[in-house]
Amino acid sequence: MMDERELISSLDEAAAALEVALEGKAPTIGLILGSGLGPLAEEISPAVTVPFAEVPHMKTSTATGHVGRFVIGSLGGARVITMQGRLHGYEGNSAQEVAFPVWLMERVGVRTLIVTNAAGAINPSYQPGEFCLMRDHINFTGRNPVAGLGNETLAPRFFSMKDAYDPHLRKVALECARDEGVTLHEGVYLGLLGPSFETPAEIEAFSRWGADSVAMSVVEEVIAARYVGMRVMGISLLSNMACGVGDADPSDQEVFEVAARAEADLCRLMTRIVGCI
Ligand code: HPA
Repeated sequence: MMDERELISSLDEAAAALEVALEGKAPTIGLILGSGLGPLAEEISPAVTVPFAEVPHMKTSTATGHVGRFVIGSLGGARVITMQGRLHGYEGNSAQEVAFPVWLMERVGVRTLIVTNAAGAINPSYQPGEFCLMRDHINFTGRNPVAGLGNETLAPRFFSMKDAYDPHLRKVALECARDEGVTLHEGVYLGLLGPSFETPAEIEAFSRWGADSVAMSVVEEVIAARYVGMRVMGISLLSNMACGVGDADPSDQEVFEVAARAEADLCRLMTRIVGCI
């Protein structure tokens, strides 16, 4: 865990490493692309890329399908910085290490963060290949990226998580999905550490808590973003039914196959959303 002074100076050094790539034009929207969803970054033009490994103090992605670089440029007429691949807790990253690139994006100008991932569907009315907008989340990772920071390290220590997923952005996303003919549900997302998939008993319990979808990312990033006051939107590709829903027994193979098929829908939807906010 970095102490407060170390965190701030690390963010400054990391921001300096992005300076050339930013070409003096601050990106206002940050996008995090999850498992199998990285191809959306190919839509960015002209694109300047910076591998995570070239950014001081940043961990690199080790997960399959996560390229591990920033892609900076224009998407849907907006200036964006994209993480093609993310950092997960199950890779051995601390909550603060997972949050670091979110705070870095804020430091270089990002005010709106859009997170995407592949998730399992708990709600039996959902189907693989459809999308789910996050209305709220349940943090079941047992961790919080702000824990251990001081009273005022980047912002005040205590902050609200009501409407963490911005109501206006959700409305825009639902309208864009309707216009694009893409099925976008709206539900409660539950994030946990992984890497084991859930047991049927866990999924049954999460369902009773009101969770509609589940995966191994996002919640720590969203807490980090709300801490520094960014607006947040989250969209999951439903890659599979969660374990025990019907006779589902998900695998990473299934996640990637469905993500690859849904990629074109996600590209259209995201390009439109980014152009509308
Ligand atoms: N569980 C956890 N993580 C996931 C799933 C799932 O069913 N699908 C994609 N990521």
